[in-house]
Amino acid sequence: MKQNLADLGKIFLIVCAISVMHYYTSYTSTEFHAFSALLYYIPIIFAAFRFGLKGGAWTGFLVSLIYAPYLIWHRAQLPAELVIKVLDVLLYNGIGWITGILVEAEHKQKRRYLHAVEQLKRANEELEQKIREKSELEEQVRRADKLAALGVLVSGVAHELRNPLGILKATIQVMERELGANAPVREFVSVFKEEVERMNNAIQEFLDFARPSAPQFAEVAVNEIVAEVVQFTRKYLEQRHIVIRSVLADGLPAIYADKKQIRQVFMNLVLNGAAAIKAAGGLEIYSEPLDHYIRVRFKDTGCGIPAENLTRIFDPFFTTKDAGTGLGLAVAHRIVDAHCGFIEVVSEAGQGAEFSVYLPINAERGRDA
Ligand SMILES: Nc1ncnc2c1ncn2[C@@H]1O[C@H](COP(=O)(O)OP(=O)(O)OP(=O)(O)O)[C@@H](O)[C@H]1O
Ligand SMILES: [Mg+2]
Repeated sequence: MKQNLADLGKIFLIVCAISVMHYYTSYTSTEFHAFSALLYYIPIIFAAFRFGLKGGAWTGFLVSLIYAPYLIWHRAQLPAELVIKVLDVLLYNGIGWITGILVEAEHKQKRRYLHAVEQLKRANEELEQKIREKSELEEQVRRADKLAALGVLVSGVAHELRNPLGILKATIQVMERELGANAPVREFVSVFKEEVERMNNAIQEFLDFARPSAPQFAEVAVNEIVAEVVQFTRKYLEQRHIVIRSVLADGLPAIYADKKQIRQVFMNLVLNGAAAIKAAGGLEIYSEPLDHYIRVRFKDTGCGIPAENLTRIFDPFFTTKDAGTGLGLAVAHRIVDAHCGFIEVVSEAGQGAEFSVYLPINAERGRDA
């Protein structure tokens, strides 16, 4: 706006300056007089370039107005030149109009090009987005395929193991009864019993993984689940010199979810965070609303996850631990998926890790899932 006014001022001043020169030289010097008439084209063309048709036409008209008194006063002295001078005036207007029209046409063309470039850019961005979505989908399908194949295998093996284990367990119970409290081998029998129990639990875990139960949706308060997990793990974490802290947003809406399953997800994330802390450290849990989700962040000061592992940690059986099964995150992923939510992870080797669980607030979506 400011620039427009400045340019209008410039055009007006140039026209005035040329007019002064034109009128002044009319008696003194004919060459300069003729030259000054030509100079009028400069502001006209400049105005057309700057303001399009309107600029060219109005400046041409302004010049004609200023030129007119000169023609009228001198019409008696200039019979021969009069026709040429009148033609000059017409030409000022003609040049103003033509240049204005051409400039506007070019501007229009330029706008069209810019629009086309903009559209191309947008199409390109959409394409990139589609490619990203496709590779994410492929990743999900790959994981789901692996899970399905694994499910069949694991449930078959687990089933076969369960029967002999059941027989072992029953036999041990009979042995225990028969041996009496003071028998010297009683201690061994207890070890037997414990180990069988441990195997049974491990098999149960595999079976849970292979045949996950459908979520039982009910109204739950996310903060309550976080508080339970914190309370449940605090003692264990204290022993490992890990300070756990939760910062929970007030007034979060209840969500439709399977409380047990979400607790399992949170538990897995807390235990993973703790396992990543070698000597001492901290674990923080934040809950907050974000768009249509409740986001629960688990932040630890542990060893972090190297970039090459980031895409693999949700794969079943991916583990970097000697005694890990590598199922924790795969299960967590599946549970959150069944709740129409998602998990994000941000981490760098040596910088700790932050897992964010997004659970939808929209109750219907959760219920339908
Ligand atoms: N908070 C974390 N910090 C660093 N590495 C992590 C973290 N959470 C997960 N990981 C990495 O991801 C791997 C997979 O985790 P996941 O929970 O699936 O299996 P796991 O903990 O190894 O075994 P488990 O089945 O007993 O949980 C871990 O072995 C570890 O390398
Ligand atoms: Mg784990």
